[in-house]
Amino acid sequence: MVYELSNPVTKTLITHLRDQKSDAIRFRHTVAELTKQLVYEALKEFPLVQKNIKTWQGEQNFGTIDEKNIVVASVLRAGMPMLDSAIELLPESTAGFLAMKRDEITHKSVLYYDRLPECREKTILLVDPMLATGGSMCDAIELIKSKNPMKIIMLNIIGAPEGIDVVTSVHPDVDIYISQIDERLNSNKFIIPGLGDVGDRSYNTV
Ligand code: PRP
Repeated sequence: MVYELSNPVTKTLITHLRDQKSDAIRFRHTVAELTKQLVYEALKEFPLVQKNIKTWQGEQNFGTIDEKNIVVASVLRAGMPMLDSAIELLPESTAGFLAMKRDEITHKSVLYYDRLPECREKTILLVDPMLATGGSMCDAIELIKSKNPMKIIMLNIIGAPEGIDVVTSVHPDVDIYISQIDERLNSNKFIIPGLGDVGDRSYNTV
């Protein structure tokens, strides 16, 4: 299932990201806001467990997400602002890291480091702002699946239809929540119109 956020607030935030005038701090902040929207949508059916808490009226049971059953896995480095934002919302979740770099010539992703926590029977929120060819997401999903999670949900800020088609055909069981589906990839496999390189824009590198 592919779910694209379509509300005017999302569109406005995406326009801020497209604007070259947005500096790194605004860029990361906007990515963080969009991530929170994605988490709300992605977990809208998530079951609540009852928790007994002390309130001003004494002890009572209220619903809460069992965050310990959630792993937020980030693809470095552009995924870092998304990870920070998601774990602010879900402070008892555990975080995982996948370091990947897209080869500029072959356009294929290469995994060079991974540090995933226990994933068995957990819900994995896989965060990466950009979904271009889909290669990075497919590699990440394959690795996570080898750790027997209950469910994998991808959270992306911007993507191309080509990459979405690849991921949905290889991993139809993975849900995709995305803020904006753009027009296409160009011959260099950049998303058009896109945002530029999210990692570079987040951290002032070129
Ligand atoms: C970007 C992006 C994704 C990947 C998407 O990372 O953050 O991880 O490319 O491309 P794909 O769908 O074609 O695999 P990049 O390699 O630029 O690294 P960075 O996060 O360090 O900027």
